[in-house]
Amino acid sequence: MRKKVTIVGSGNVGATAAHWIASKELADVVLIDIIEGVPQGKGLDLLESMPIEKRDCRIIGTQDYADTANSDIVVITAGIPRKPGMSRDDLLNTNHKIMKDVVGKAIQHSPKCILIVVSNPLDAMAQCLTRWMRWRKPPTRWRDCPASA
Ligand SMILES: NC(=O)c1ccc[n+]([C@@H]2O[C@H](COP(=O)([O-])OP(=O)(O)OC[C@H]3O[C@@H](n4cnc5c(N)ncnc54)[C@H](O)[C@@H]3O)[C@@H](O)[C@H]2O)c1
Repeated sequence: MRKKVTIVGSGNVGATAAHWIASKELADVVLIDIIEGVPQGKGLDLLESMPIEKRDCRIIGTQDYADTANSDIVVITAGIPRKPGMSRDDLLNTNHKIMKDVVGKAIQHSPKCILIVVSNPLDAMAQCLTRWMRWRKPPTRWRDCPASA
C-alpha cells in the first residue's frame, strides 16, 4: 500500500513539498491549511497533472484533520515566514502557537506518524516538539529539516 504524507501549511514550502512527493510518486498527499480553498485548489492542480506526468498519486486539499488520518509522515510547514528585516527568532511566538495547535490535531489522527518540522525558527520548534513528544507513550518519532543559511 502506498504511504500517506500530510503537509500542514499549503504555502510556498508546503505546496513545493507536495509537488516533489507527487512527481516522484512517493506517497499519497493530503494538503491542509487554515485558508479555505488554498489547499483544495493546489491539491486539485496537482491531482490533474498526475495522468499527464504518468503518475498515480491521490492528492487532496482540506481543512479537516480527519482527512489526514493514519498518515505515515506529517510535515509541518504552517506558520509565518520572515519578512524583510526580520530574523527567524522574530517568528518564535507566532509559530510556536501555530505549531502547538497543528501538531496536537495531527497526532490525534495519526498517532504513529513521523513528524517532520520545517517551520522557523527551526531549532526552537524542534526543541519544543521534542519536549511535547516526550510526554507521549509511545513517543512520537520526529525529524527536523535543517534551516537554510
Ligand atoms: N527549515 C527550512 O529550511 C525552511 C525553509 C523555508 C521556510 N521555512 C519556514 O517554513 C515556514 C513556511 O514558509 P512558507 O514560505 O511556506 O510560508 P507561506 O506563508 O508561503 O506558507 C505558510 C502557510 O501556513 C499556513 N498556516 C498558518 N497557520 C496555519 C495553521 N494554524 N494551520 C494550517 N496552516 C496554517 C498559511 O495559511 C500559509 O498558507 C516558515 O516558518 C518559514 O520560515 C523553513
